[in-house]
Amino acid sequence: MIETCLEGFKKIFGDGGEIRSFFAPGRVNLIGEHTDYNGGHVFPCALTIGTYACVRKRDDRRLNFYSLNFEDLGVISLSLDDISYKKEHNWVNYPMGIVATLKEDGMEINQGFDIVYYGTIPNSSGLSSSASIEVLTCYVIKSLYGFEIDNINNALIGQRAENNYIGVNCGIMDQFAIAMGKKDHAIFLDTATLNYEYAPIDLAGAKIVIMNTNKKRGLGDSKYNERRAECEEALAELKTKVDIASLGQLTEEEFEVEKHLIGSYVRQKRAKHAVYENQRTIKAVKALKDGDLALFGKLMIASHDSLRDDYEVTGIELDTLVSEGLKQEGVIGARMTGAGFGGCAVAIVKEENVDDFIKNVGAAYEKEIGYAADFYVVEIGDGPREL
Ligand code: GLA
Repeated sequence: MIETCLEGFKKIFGDGGEIRSFFAPGRVNLIGEHTDYNGGHVFPCALTIGTYACVRKRDDRRLNFYSLNFEDLGVISLSLDDISYKKEHNWVNYPMGIVATLKEDGMEINQGFDIVYYGTIPNSSGLSSSASIEVLTCYVIKSLYGFEIDNINNALIGQRAENNYIGVNCGIMDQFAIAMGKKDHAIFLDTATLNYEYAPIDLAGAKIVIMNTNKKRGLGDSKYNERRAECEEALAELKTKVDIASLGQLTEEEFEVEKHLIGSYVRQKRAKHAVYENQRTIKAVKALKDGDLALFGKLMIASHDSLRDDYEVTGIELDTLVSEGLKQEGVIGARMTGAGFGGCAVAIVKEENVDDFIKNVGAAYEKEIGYAADFYVVEIGDGPREL
């Protein structure tokens, strides 16, 4: 993969000088959805698919960007003297958001670079190709210019770039999962404190199968920010009587006692999901530690049901993949993953059943939805690094 990126670099920007190569992964969340901006827990892992970059410093103040995934856009050439967001800069706003955020933190770069990106994460799939570019770019810049940025700060910088520069009010999960990824481990992260623990993922011969709806979605124009606002409003209503800083501080029982404080049925459902999903995530990690994969799978299914009925972020495509997936032999659990509204679902499937699973779910999906889904059997990989 890196050979493809390097070849691309030499073709676009020429050979010679010091060309350095880097990688950052994508991520999939196993459970704990829409909890990361509610002070709850998440349980994502980094993947072995991700984004590659080849880069060379320049002597002047130009920043030249090229992506092998968007070749028709050609080289997008910008200057360090104008780093503001511009819609027409397209995907380059992600790396430029990092340049701008670093500058805000006093880490100004005075010399430009030529860079080629090559991603193996399907675009718009909800496997965090944009967070992968952000974390990768931060890692590239700190390595090139000698800034001290550890991986947790890298994640926080990526999240700020996404919130303030791109304008998507995301939580910390994606950038954290990518920046802190560890082979064969998922990350049990408390988003209220950023305390985290690595949990080994031993699926006893089962595989993680990602199912892509191939429905195009963009976080920015989805209902993501609306859901976040609904949760904030529900929290404010609860806070009139209950002493909490976030929905993640409530148990299911406490929520049931206090939910009458939330003035609309819709907001009650949104808050219910945030509270129950957080508790489910804690239970799921315990189940995994106890070696109870069957319970982990059941909690995944309950997570999907809640995202469909209470949080209302699934849609016919994700629901079809999950319900067809759950009919198959050897399936342990399945649920949507990421923001929802399209994107991907994740299933845990016994290895000997994976081929039939893909064949059967693929056929049923195409029949129901009218176009094909894609399937990836993925492995859990490490975080960002120089190659
Ligand atoms: C997107 C956001 C994350 C998180 C998930 C939902 O991936 O970027 O911060 O909120 O949706 O769990």
